[in-house]
Amino acid sequence: MTTARAHPNVALIKYWGKQAKPGNFPATPSLSITLSELTTTTRVDDADEDALVLNGNPSRDAKIVEFVAALRTEFGFGPLAIETDSNFPTSAGLASSASGFAALITAIDAHCGLELDAAVRSQFARRGSASAARSLFGGYVTLEPPNWQARPLAAPEHWDLRVAVAVTSTAPKKIGSTEGMERSRLTSPYFDAWVGTAAADFEDAVAAINQRDFDKLTDVAELSCMKMHGLMLTSKPALNYWNGASVDCMNLVRELRAAGHGVFFTNDAGPQIKAICLPAEIHRVAAELRGVPGVIEVLESRLGGGAAADP
Ligand code: DP6
Repeated sequence: MTTARAHPNVALIKYWGKQAKPGNFPATPSLSITLSELTTTTRVDDADEDALVLNGNPSRDAKIVEFVAALRTEFGFGPLAIETDSNFPTSAGLASSASGFAALITAIDAHCGLELDAAVRSQFARRGSASAARSLFGGYVTLEPPNWQARPLAAPEHWDLRVAVAVTSTAPKKIGSTEGMERSRLTSPYFDAWVGTAAADFEDAVAAINQRDFDKLTDVAELSCMKMHGLMLTSKPALNYWNGASVDCMNLVRELRAAGHGVFFTNDAGPQIKAICLPAEIHRVAAELRGVPGVIEVLESRLGGGAAADP
């Protein structure tokens, strides 16, 4: 049996929308941070027939089944028993598919002796879920044209940012990312503007991280997040991933910033709010978020490393 672990990542510059061709290529460049405290653990073993257990429950998750089938066509390994567990709410906009596919390709690679390096594993993970390509790497990670391969931009030690994740619902999201982003591409009048302005936002964020410029990162990360939600909200039918507590958390983060605290928010295809801050602010920010009605729990994380198999 082989065990691998991977962490979810939080996009500061968002991927939403695919190119109209096969291979799961994003329409926009993205940039993320990999979290250390949230973990998906995947165990792979030989079996008589394929079996999948997700967080203790037998599953036939179509994306995972297709992913394993495509790998098998490429590498010709036998049936596998796959068991995967995450220590955070899954399918609720907390990037469980990112850590899930990153852990899965890493576990299969190690178990079946495929000897794929992280860059190649990342390319395979992208086909499963494009955000998963970024979870192969730790710290600050980009996913950009022309070859849409994820790359580490900077190690976690480059800039010690902290993340507080305010969980406001543990229900699975109603519309998955793949379906939602296709709806946005086909129906939102803002889609071309989103794609057209993404490269500039991406470059600004890369510069902000290289310079460790928190104010600059704040501006561009919140802008990318709000543009993505503008795109979602103008899709037909509208995609609204927020609940009341999500909005209250975002307002709280803005109030804290107005009062002089170094913190900004981001949020994905679900109602959880991620507050990114400087180390000195994390306990205060987390405590304030815990006080928002509707917040179930607040997870605190540092930036972490890439996907890896246990020795
Ligand atoms: C809002 O990677 O889950 O989290 O490639 O269709 O599986 P698929 O989508 P996925 O989308 C993630 C979207 C996002 C923003 C981001 O992580 O960049």
